[in-house]
Amino acid sequence: MRVLTGLQPSGDLHIGNYFGAIKQMIEAQNSNEMFIFIANYHAMTSLQDGEKLKENSLKTAAAFLSLGIDPQKSVFWLQSDIKEVIELYWILSQFTPMGLLERAHSYKDKIAKGLSASHGLFSYPVLMAADILLFDARVVPVGKDQIQHVEIARDIALKVNNEWGEIFVLPQARIDEQVAVVVGTDGAKMSKSYQNTIDIFASQKLLKKQIASIVTDSTALNVPKDYKNCNVFKIIKLFLDEIEQKNLQARYQKGGEGYGHFKMYLNELVNDYFKEAREKYDEFLENPSHLKEILDFGAQKASKIAKEKMQKIYEKIGL
Ligand code: ADP
Ligand code: TRP
Repeated sequence: MRVLTGLQPSGDLHIGNYFGAIKQMIEAQNSNEMFIFIANYHAMTSLQDGEKLKENSLKTAAAFLSLGIDPQKSVFWLQSDIKEVIELYWILSQFTPMGLLERAHSYKDKIAKGLSASHGLFSYPVLMAADILLFDARVVPVGKDQIQHVEIARDIALKVNNEWGEIFVLPQARIDEQVAVVVGTDGAKMSKSYQNTIDIFASQKLLKKQIASIVTDSTALNVPKDYKNCNVFKIIKLFLDEIEQKNLQARYQKGGEGYGHFKMYLNELVNDYFKEAREKYDEFLENPSHLKEILDFGAQKASKIAKEKMQKIYEKIGL
């Protein structure tokens, strides 16, 4: 099955992203035909600083590769390396009713947050439809906020198919309902926008600071503690198997250890878990030409498929 997803190159990844999405993506590479790209055209809607966009794109590519995206198993590329997507975006625009875009929640939310109401931001879902339809993707794994965009892509595909015959595969959004929400340092959902994250590639100093900021109650050191409602426990759990979780529960119930001890334990676990990924990440960033080679390799594979698809579309639209 062909599965496609775009990754926003928007800064640092946190463990909520990892346990909520990236881990599943890495595992899915073994049983699906995965198409994964860095959505740098989309990122332009909120970032117009060229240096920064380039840096964020490379960092995001390095992060995903070091966490386990395998360019031999998946097609992994930088969105802007395949120019056909912009051409298809324009063609699809002719089939996109204004009303469809006017109803997009994400656009309204971004305007409410202070982004300027540009045409780029407004037509963002059409570019996303082009990403999806160009590669005949059937399944599109996304976070909840992106479901409507996949539905818009499907609506556009239906409209074109009505006109031209079955040219596009109808895509379906997939959200992983089984994945639990990872809590942040304040106990709310971990999210960049709430500044309550624990970042995968943070420096030792920042990691310590983020973990230290996890909100706990004020139970004294020697008193037994309630692991069920403890934010530190909720986060540590992600890194432990069942037996290890039981052991930790026992430590909470016994008393004699403070939250500082459990935070130290979490710090060690995060370091161990992401040790290899962090080393690879640093290597990639020290050697951007290697990173570029990997992205070029992916772009070549993506380009072949995109060009074949566009040939069919040119015939229909008269180009
Ligand atoms: P953020 O909220 O930090 O901006 P994104 O919206 O960029 O995160 O999410 C990227 C992916 O990571 C999505 O698939 C989303 O469902 C997943 N994700 C983000 N935060 C969490 C979380 N706290 N728990 C589980 N999954 C998460
Ligand atoms: N808009 C998506 C996000 O913010 C990223 C994205 C761009 C995407 N094009 C896509 C996701 C195509 C899935 C399919 O997360």
